[in-house]
Amino acid sequence: MSSPTGSMLWIEKYRPKTLDEVVNQEEVVEGLKNLLSSNVSDMPHLLFAGPPGTGKTTVALAFARELYGDHWREYVLELNASDERGINVIREKVKVFAQYFSPSEEAPFKLVILDEADMMTAEAQTALRRIMEVNARVTRFILICNYLNRIISPIQSRTAIFRFKRLSYEDAKSYLMMICSREGVECSEDLIRKIYNVSMGDLRKAINLLQSAATVSGGRPTPDVVERIVGTASPEAVSRIVDYMRMGDFNNARATLYDFMSVSGLDAGEVLRLLYSEMVSRNLLTPEIAEAMAETEYRIQFSSNPEIQLVALVARITSSMRGEG
Ligand SMILES: Nc1ncnc2c1ncn2[C@@H]1O[C@H](COP(=O)(O)OP(=O)(O)OP(=O)(O)O)[C@@H](O)[C@H]1O
Ligand SMILES: [Mg+2]
Repeated sequence: MSSPTGSMLWIEKYRPKTLDEVVNQEEVVEGLKNLLSSNVSDMPHLLFAGPPGTGKTTVALAFARELYGDHWREYVLELNASDERGINVIREKVKVFAQYFSPSEEAPFKLVILDEADMMTAEAQTALRRIMEVNARVTRFILICNYLNRIISPIQSRTAIFRFKRLSYEDAKSYLMMICSREGVECSEDLIRKIYNVSMGDLRKAINLLQSAATVSGGRPTPDVVERIVGTASPEAVSRIVDYMRMGDFNNARATLYDFMSVSGLDAGEVLRLLYSEMVSRNLLTPEIAEAMAETEYRIQFSSNPEIQLVALVARITSSMRGEG
């Protein structure tokens, strides 16, 4: 069975590595370039605010690359405010990260990128502000948030604020078309229009939709396929099915599969393609599993109850993974 999606999530594969590749955020990019070309050691803390999927994380990482060059990872600490177990964990991590660092010409400070800062309580943000001050000699922070008004004003007033805009239709279109041509996916204006309308300027969502639609349609997505995938959160559902199979939890894998099929209205062949692509991208495809999937694809066409073939496949994969330990 061939898959047009290759072995990777397109949102990662096509994440811009440089500021110049970022689209739609001209003011932000220009402002950051100015910072880079002036005396960098004077750089303030930065605050990136804007809707999901508009390039905030991408820009923060591209900025770090341009600041430090190839060894940028050594100088960057990425934290997620809502993942971490509270402000104390953040404090400890920043402290360890800032230790034994002497600023130099090439690296005047280390960089802490803190995503989802607006998920922190006001109390935690006050503590965060203190952490930023204590470590100011050797670190700069890039705080990232969706809602600027959920960031306490003492932090807002001490950071340079960069606002990200929703993607315009033209920018989203050229980005999606670039991906289609590199992936050999058929593309029409109607398709792009449909994807744009349902993703509302969120390029991550748009790219994920395009990838799912391309996968289930064998590289020939139509607006109708997009319509059926929208709202099914298909990447997440399929990824959960795979999680259950890995845990050896056949019952939950099967239940999730049934839910997903009834919500999405996708047929067994389409779901099989999504499963296949997920397995490939997570490096879980053994010869045995690949064979089982190919066989299922064949059987589905002739079965009066294709769902049963899928469930049998899920059972086989689950026990095959258990065998691997
Ligand atoms: N302005 C942009 N230019 C080019 N690609 C973009 C842009 N915005 C988003 N993308 C694409 O969408 C993906 C997600 O973007 P990113 O993670 O930067 O979004 P975000 O603004 O951090 O969203 P969130 O608030 O949900 O974290 C990227 O990997 C990239 O492929
Ligand atoms: Mg992000």
